Amino acid sequence: MKILLTGASGLVGSAFAEAAKRRGHQVVGVVGAYAAAIPGLAEKRALDLTGAEGVTALALEVFPDAIVNCAAVAEPAACDADPARAQALNVELPALLAKLAHHLSARLIHVSTEQVFAGDRSPYAVGDAPRPLNLYGRQKMEGERRVREAAPDFAATVRAPLLTGNSLGGARSLHERLLADWAAGRAPRLYRDEIRQPCTAGNLAEVLLELCERGDLRGVFHWAGAETLSRVELARRIRTHFKLGPEAAPIVEIARADDPAATARRPANLALDLKPLAGVLKTPIETFDAQLDQLILPPPVRAWYFGL
Ligand SMILES: NC(=O)c1ccc[n+]([C@@H]2O[C@H](COP(=O)([O-])OP(=O)(O)OC[C@H]3O[C@@H](n4cnc5c(N)ncnc54)[C@H](OP(=O)(O)O)[C@@H]3O)[C@@H](O)[C@H]2O)c1
Repeated sequence: MKILLTGASGLVGSAFAEAAKRRGHQVVGVVGAYAAAIPGLAEKRALDLTGAEGVTALALEVFPDAIVNCAAVAEPAACDADPARAQALNVELPALLAKLAHHLSARLIHVSTEQVFAGDRSPYAVGDAPRPLNLYGRQKMEGERRVREAAPDFAATVRAPLLTGNSLGGARSLHERLLADWAAGRAPRLYRDEIRQPCTAGNLAEVLLELCERGDLRGVFHWAGAETLSRVELARRIRTHFKLGPEAAPIVEIARADDPAATARRPANLALDLKPLAGVLKTPIETFDAQLDQLILPPPVRAWYFGL
C-alpha cells in the first residue's frame, strides 16, 4: 500500500514509518523542521503543512492509497502559545486531508486525543460527548468533526492516550522528559490524582496500520494501554525501570486540589473504554510492564546516567 504520512518526524509518525516498512508498505513521509533521516520511509518530503496549496499538490502527486495524519501541535501549552498555528495544524489540516482523501478515494487515518474529554467520569466510551477543558482539546474535537464531515466513508479517527516510547530526538516522550528533568537536577512536580492509560507510540502505530488495511472500520475509535496509573505511579515505575532511586530521580508529589487554577484546564481521569477496536484488531493491548521493556535510555541523558 502507498501511504502518505504527515508528522513523520514526530513520536507517533516515526513509529508508524518503521511499523509500515516492516509490513511491506511504501511510505512517503512529510516533515516540517526535522532534518535527519527517518528509518522506514521510502521517501522524505519537507513541507509546511499550514499551506493548503502545498499539501494538495503533494497529495495529488503521491496519489496514496491511505493518508495517515500524525502532524499536530500536540501539547496544550504549545497551542496556548500560538493558537493560530495550532488551529492550522489541529483543525484546518485534518479538514483538508479529509477532503483530499474523499477526492482520491483514499483511506484517512487521523490521530486525535483523549483530551477531548473533561476527565470527570471514567472510562469514556466512543459515544460519550466530548467536553474539552483546554484549547488543545477543543481544537482536536473540531478536527475530529471536520474529518467526519468531509470523509465519512473513508476516515477513521483514533483518540490516543498519553504516549510512551522512544522518539527520534530522545526528548519527546514521557520517560524522555522525566529523565531530562532528573539529568538537569530538577524534581518534576507530578499529580498523584491525575489518571492516564498510556500505550507506546509503536503500539498505536500498529493500530493505525491495521486501520489503513481495514476500510470497513470508519468513524471515531479509542485506543490505550491495559492499565490506568497516576502520574506519580508512572514516574515511579519509570524510575525503577531505569534502576534510579529517589536521590538521583526525585519526584515532588502534588494533588489537584493544590492548584485549582491549573487543574481546571487539566482533565483528571482519562481512562478509555477500548470497545469496539479491542475486539476486532490483532494489535495487543499493552501492559505498562510491556511498555517499560521497550524504553531505551535516551541519548541526551546518557552521559549523566553513566556518570552517576
Ligand atoms: N504525544 C502524546 O502523548 C499524544 C497523546 C495523545 C494524542 N496524541 C496525538 O498524536 C498525534 C501525534 O502526536 P506526536 O506526539 O507524535 O506529535 P509530535 O511528536 O509533537 O510531532 C508533531 C509532528 O508534526 C509535525 N509538524 C508540526 N508542525 C508542522 C508544520 N507546520 N509543517 C509540517 N509538519 C509539522 C512535526 O514535524 P517537525 O518536527 O519535522 O517540524 C512532527 O513531525 C497528534 O495528533 C497528537 O494530538 C499525542
